[in-house]
Amino acid sequence: MTRLHVISAATRPTSSGRPLARWVTGRAREHGGFEVTPVDLAEIALPFLDEPEYASTGNYAHQHTRDWSALVDSADAFLFVLPMYNGGFTAPFKNAIDFLYNEWKGKPVGIVSYSAGPTGGAPAAEMLLPVLTRLGMLPAEHSVAIPGIPKLIGAEGFEAPETLAAELAAVLADVAELAAQREAEPAAQAVAVTA
Ligand SMILES: Cc1cc2nc3c(=O)[nH]c(=O)nc-3n(C[C@H](O)[C@H](O)[C@H](O)COP(=O)(O)O)c2cc1C
Repeated sequence: MTRLHVISAATRPTSSGRPLARWVTGRAREHGGFEVTPVDLAEIALPFLDEPEYASTGNYAHQHTRDWSALVDSADAFLFVLPMYNGGFTAPFKNAIDFLYNEWKGKPVGIVSYSAGPTGGAPAAEMLLPVLTRLGMLPAEHSVAIPGIPKLIGAEGFEAPETLAAELAAVLADVAELAAQREAEPAAQAVAVTA
């Protein structure tokens, strides 16, 4: 089964992303095609990038990097739950991405962005796309953008607008399909070599 990590990219202690990520994790589990692991970037608590060597070497001097590497490496695919700050993605999340390299490579990724304002963080998701492409990741065709996030956080957690489950289902379907293609690729290559 595809191992899907749902990464909550926010680090603020009062983040709206945490209840949203819990809701996203629940829907991903309901999909049935994923082994889902929630990842909270605030709990990972990485420092600013402090590795002496490039991430592409895979030579990590620090235990926090080795732990982060093992966690990301163990995923087949990702959902990023992405807040927008000042029109873009957040510095801690970019920092967390930059810590690693091969661990991201070739893996499908879906984006669920959110913001207080009307864009739902879509500009942050768009800003992230070239970064993901640079890393050789496989972004899903669909994405989800959730505007007005503070009003959607109630006493019971995230209160999803009616259409959101269907929108997220489209992202999950993309990620599942990309993951299936990726899993099939080594087998296809092996057939080509032995044929
Ligand atoms: C530093 C910062 C910058 C923000 N900039 C924007 C913005 O440009 N547009 C917007 O709609 N909301 C903006 N917001 C509001 C956030 O989108 C909203 O608070 C969201 O809940 C942030 O995610 P978080 O709660 O997980 O930190 C900003 C919030 C912070 C803390």
